[in-house]
Amino acid sequence: MNLVLFGPPGAGKGTQSEFLQAKFGLVKLATGDMLRAAVSSGSPLGRQVQDIMAKGHLVSDIIMINLLQQRIRLPDARRGFILDGFPRTLAQAEALDRMLEDEAMRLDAVIELKVDDAKLIERIAGRFSCAKCGAGYHDSFRQPKMAGICDVCGSKEFIRREDDKAETVAQRLQAYHKKTAPSLPYYKRRGVLVSVDGMADIDEVAHQIEEVLRANKKIAKKG
Ligand code: AP5
Ligand code: MG
Repeated sequence: MNLVLFGPPGAGKGTQSEFLQAKFGLVKLATGDMLRAAVSSGSPLGRQVQDIMAKGHLVSDIIMINLLQQRIRLPDARRGFILDGFPRTLAQAEALDRMLEDEAMRLDAVIELKVDDAKLIERIAGRFSCAKCGAGYHDSFRQPKMAGICDVCGSKEFIRREDDKAETVAQRLQAYHKKTAPSLPYYKRRGVLVSVDGMADIDEVAHQIEEVLRANKKIAKKG
């Protein structure tokens, strides 16, 4: 099963792809995570994209398409993947189709997480993650089970994202509405788009996604 999780900044793409990865053994391919890893390592790619990301702009299609193409060709993607943060433009959506065709793979569903802008701002403002394993948390909506200790790896170090400052978030939202959302009709025409209510709480959104996959016969019926 190959999925795209589609939605604006703070919609819950990262949160829900962690669940889908754990539950269905899919590989999470998150382009934002790949870029942040490149920035932290100080690689040529990292140096090239650092300022663009810090300003909340999109990285160029050519860089992103090359990056994803290299990743999708690795053997583990054959197990099935969840794309988080790609495609973000119509050119990326079309390139993804070509890449999948070349690899004899196909897209099973594009799941749109629908969330109002005001809610997105609230979510991003409270977000933090484990510095060691990247597990995501929120000051109000998803605290670690034991305060100050990561549920997944036990680390006590947490970080907040550089691009989560209010002024950068406004730019990221604008980029979503202007450049990313216009790809939705492309997927609607192809009959692969399903929308879920991303305003609900985390478990409820996860439940809705499972129901959608079940209804579309992407996963087996309940017991
Ligand atoms: P990227 O890392 O992809 O960021 P984004 O799309 O802006 O999305 P976020 O990671 O901010 O949000 P999310 O939907 O993952 O939400 P999360 O689950 O964390 O991209 C970063 C940058 O990289 C871009 O700006 C661009 O510069 C560049 N880039 C990346 N890909 C690119 C591409 N393809 N092309 C060009 N440039 C690219 O949830 C948010 C918070 O809310 C968390 O704290 C979570 O705990 C909480 N939460 C989640 N769901 C719920 C819920 N249902 N109820 C309550 N709280 C919730
Ligand atoms: Mg994310």
